This record gives sequence, structure tokens and C-alpha cells, in this order.
Amino acid sequence: MNKYSRLIVYTLGGTLFISSFIGMIVYGYKTFYIEEEVGSSDNYRYHFALVAEEIDNEYWRLIEKGARKIAAEHDIYLEYVGPLKADNDQLLKLLDRMVSVKVDGIITQGVEGQRFVDLVLKGVERGIPIVTVDTDVKSSVRKVYVGTDNFYAGQLAGETVIANTTGEQYVGIVTGRFDAINQQERLEGFKDAIQETERIQIVGIRESNITQVGAAQATYSLLKEYPAINVLVGLSALDGIGMVEGLREIAPNKDVYLTAFDILPETLNLIQREKIDATIAQYPEKMGQVAIEAMINLQQSDLLESEIFTQTIVVEKENSDAFLQGERR
Ligand code: BGC
Repeated sequence: MNKYSRLIVYTLGGTLFISSFIGMIVYGYKTFYIEEEVGSSDNYRYHFALVAEEIDNEYWRLIEKGARKIAAEHDIYLEYVGPLKADNDQLLKLLDRMVSVKVDGIITQGVEGQRFVDLVLKGVERGIPIVTVDTDVKSSVRKVYVGTDNFYAGQLAGETVIANTTGEQYVGIVTGRFDAINQQERLEGFKDAIQETERIQIVGIRESNITQVGAAQATYSLLKEYPAINVLVGLSALDGIGMVEGLREIAPNKDVYLTAFDILPETLNLIQREKIDATIAQYPEKMGQVAIEAMINLQQSDLLESEIFTQTIVVEKENSDAFLQGERR
């Protein structure tokens, strides 16, 4: 290569490098989280933010749906943000950003650790009311929690296993994430319910990372390590669906009692087909609605209550029709 062509190659290479570097700085954050851009907040009464555990998760989209419905009725600009993949660190960064841009109110999943507690304090000190939804952090100065009583929901799962099985039961648990407080509370509730029933014991616990494929893999590995498992308990919304898949792979003919969480359409479908025996219904759309209503009230003054629990119900084949048709949502 002569001097002239080398100069061209270097110049082209350099330009390419600089433009991709700028692109990475400007757009790189989209690799980690998404914000729904819905226009400008200028012409609205209030600007609220809803911070999800994982932006495209079906369950969080239902919370968003409920929140948007009430927001639209009250002239509220709602910004829905969340990590692309569940990740506490990314969520906390988003929360920090929402505090910094001084929205009028933040509804967020509660996250374990001191950083969350500090951020909530920072927000509230700046006059931004903060509401936890789906998962609470009681030690923070959040104004109110809206969502399931997760310990109780875990107890319900335990009682369902007690009521529907006889003889020795070896339980495999699939949890969404070890570091999600609501999953920890559900597990504690489950353990509490079965503690006096000696014939039932937990033999293994795996994480699904709140994905269906993660739950399938978790189930596969649980049964591989503990072939005696005859009860599977899923603690987050996609776990039941993944558990059915994992079980089909490793032990298609084994009779396993299976309980799931939430009433996503596919879970209800599997209940009707007798692949899942029971699921604990939560009301994410309602959570979104109530959280926005609470936030509107918080713009005027503090609320009297600090926890607003939404319903929790055991759904089995017998009562699943009403849920499938949407009457009980
Ligand atoms: C939990 C949420 C979680 C979702 C995952 C639900 O059961 O309440 O915290 O994000 O499952 O799919």
C-alpha cells in the first residue's frame, strides 16, 4: 500500500471509529433499558413515572395498562420505564434519573438494599411522592405500597399443596429471582404454611430470571438433581408455563402437583388442560390503577394508609372459567 492509500484507509477507519463511538454514547443506553416516548409532558396536569422490573414482561405490561387507563382519565403524562432484562442496578439508575428530572410522582417496584432506601429518601426530600407497586420496601419512606400481600400469597400456595396432596411430598421451587423481595416473601409464606406438615419438605430451589425459558431450565435441573420431586411451585408469572415445558422434557409421564403464580392467559390455558393444578391470582391491572389514584391524592396530602393490598385468590380448574373470560380480572 502506498502512502496515499494508507492515508485514505486510516481516515476512513478513524471516521468509522469516531461515529460508532458517538453512536454508542448516544444510543448505548437503549441496550439496557427502554423508555416509551409518548410526546411531551408540558400540556399535562401531572407527570408521573412508572418504573417496572422488566419493561416488556407481560405482567408489568398489565400494571402499565391499568396505570395508563387512569392516567388518561386525569390528564396525566405517564412515563413507563424499566430495564430490558430484570436487573436491580439498572432499575436503580432509572429511579435515580426520574428523581433527578423531578417528575411529580414515581411509582416503582421496591428493590432490596440501602441504595433503594436512599433514593426514595432523596426523592421524598425533593417533594416527589414515591409509591411502591408489586413489591414493597417497608424500611423506605415510600408513601404507600400498592399490591399483593406477598407473604400471604406464599402461604396460600403452601396451603394449596397441603390440601391437594397426600403422603410424602418433595417440593422443588422455581423463584423469579433470589434478589427480588416479593419472591423472598412468597417463599417465606410458603415455608410458614408447610412448617408443621412433616410429610412436605422443600428439597431444592432454582431461579428462572423471570423468564419462561429460565423456568424450564430450572425445572429440568431440579428434577435431574432430585428425581424424587413430586411437587413443583412457581413463584413468578412465567414460572408455571416454563415448569410445564421443563417437566415435559425431563419426566413427561411423572405425576407432579404443580402450582404457579398469576393468571396470564397461557397459565389459565394450562390449568384448563390440567397441566397446572393451581395458580395464585394477582391483579396487576388493578395495581396500576390504584397506584395512579393514590399518586393523584398524594399530590394534595399524605394518605392515611401505608399499604393497599390488592386481592389474591387461588385459581384451579373448577373456578378458572370466569378468569379465562376476563370476568374476574
Ligand atoms: C411478580 C413480579 C414479576 C413477575 C415476573 C410476578 O408474579 O409479582 O414481581 O416481575 O411475576 O413475570
